[in-house]
Amino acid sequence: MAYPKGEKLSSDSITEITKLIQYRDINGQNRLFGGRLMEWIDEAAGVAAMRHCGGDAVTLMVDSLKFKHGAFINDIVVLIAKVTYVGRTSMEVRVDTYVEEKATGLRRAINHAYLTCVHVDDKGRPKPIEFGLKPVGITEQAEWEGAQKRIAIRKQRNAEGY
Ligand SMILES: CC(C)(COP(=O)(O)OP(=O)(O)OC[C@H]1O[C@@H](n2cnc3c(N)ncnc32)[C@H](O)[C@@H]1OP(=O)(O)O)[C@@H](O)C(=O)NCCC(=O)NCCS
Repeated sequence: MAYPKGEKLSSDSITEITKLIQYRDINGQNRLFGGRLMEWIDEAAGVAAMRHCGGDAVTLMVDSLKFKHGAFINDIVVLIAKVTYVGRTSMEVRVDTYVEEKATGLRRAINHAYLTCVHVDDKGRPKPIEFGLKPVGITEQAEWEGAQKRIAIRKQRNAEGY
């Protein structure tokens, strides 16, 4: 679908990636290697950001990356990414990661992360995003308002050298 300039919905950027944990993904404790999960999170966020801005995007930063539970060999891992806030050139993307129970299909949250991605031109310079984001419903509105607080915290931390 070709979008007119204007607004997109958070649902337009939704990106779901499903992985089966294999030997190449685990550490010495048969546990999903954190670096591998970070790679998948970055990939999911990048695709969601590109879907929103309609071009290239790079990852500027990752925050709130908390491993709440482990995942193990032969587990099904599902990552769901969506854009939660859009600035002039940057986007905030939330990525939720779950382990999907094979017997029931129930998904247990193991991680959530917020990433800041920047729309870039063909020289890698920040480029204005042509599409705003229209939050729909209470949850998306809360994400939007939360993003403004998170951006202020990120800028504060940056100013303090973290
Ligand atoms: C991302 C990159 C292009 C940004 O370039 P830059 O000159 O620092 O860009 P700007 O200062 O104009 O900031 C760009 C956006 O990021 C935001 N930003 C920058 N620093 C920020 C911080 N500490 N916290 C929150 N937002 C920040 C700015 O507010 C701006 O967003 P806005 O236009 O929506 O307000 C550049 O830093 C880069 O190329 N980084 C490497 C990216 C990369 O290789 N990633 C890994 C592979 S994808």
